[in-house]
Amino acid sequence: MSESEEKSLLYEGKAKKLYSTDDPNVVLVEYKDSFTAFNGEKRAEMSGKGRLNNLISSAIFEYLAKNGVPVHFIERFDELRQLAARVRIFPLEVVVRNITTGSIVKRLGIAEGMKLPRPLLEFYYKDDALGDPLVTEDHALLFEWADETDLKTIKEITFRVNELLKSLFDSIKIVLVDFKLEFGRDNDGKLLLADEISPDTCRFWDALTGDRLDKDRFRKDLGNVLDAYEEIWRRLSRIGK
Ligand code: TMP
Ligand code: ASP
Repeated sequence: MSESEEKSLLYEGKAKKLYSTDDPNVVLVEYKDSFTAFNGEKRAEMSGKGRLNNLISSAIFEYLAKNGVPVHFIERFDELRQLAARVRIFPLEVVVRNITTGSIVKRLGIAEGMKLPRPLLEFYYKDDALGDPLVTEDHALLFEWADETDLKTIKEITFRVNELLKSLFDSIKIVLVDFKLEFGRDNDGKLLLADEISPDTCRFWDALTGDRLDKDRFRKDLGNVLDAYEEIWRRLSRIGK
């Protein structure tokens, strides 16, 4: 695809812009340099962030695709952009927790840093105005955000992605604490893993030092935010070399 084939802006989110292409089934995803947290209340621009998330997310989707996970990702286009299948996103955020931290600690008053005996899967309803509330599968079915077959497929893919990512990050001495996935359906009706997988959407702890290598550095003002993203990319890009 050439520059001239880039079409109109379809959608601008907090971290990405989506452009149409000559192919109605394909979009160009551009990663922005913006940080937001707490439902957009806290914001910052950091030059180089879009590039790092594009590189990291592309590498992770390539790894998942190679391992048989159905993904919307097609290929990395350049340093800031990637090509992906055009999908309609289910209004659900699917979170997996391997270790307790973040909202579950606040919501349930349980201890931080507890290794869970098995991965916990949670659904959140994607609605910024409501602050993405925690919901059950029954809400999703009743309000028709997804049907029974979709939810079964989404859960299967999510647990498989957790196993694949745990093993990938284990090999570079990073603990996969928790992460968020989104799913969509392409123009042929196929259910695909979509959106991004990056330090914005995962919690990564250094296995040796426990250092936070993800967006919690921004959320909690820990400093050296982009250094952490750079470190994730440095380790990922050296795999197999
Ligand atoms: P939480 O502990 O704040 O619920 O976050 C769980 C995981 O989901 C964590 O890895 C960060 C990710 N996440 C997002 O990607 N987007 C969001 O809007 C939120 C709240 C969390
Ligand atoms: N992604 C959400 C926001 O941009 C919340 C978060 O990740 O903390 O506001």
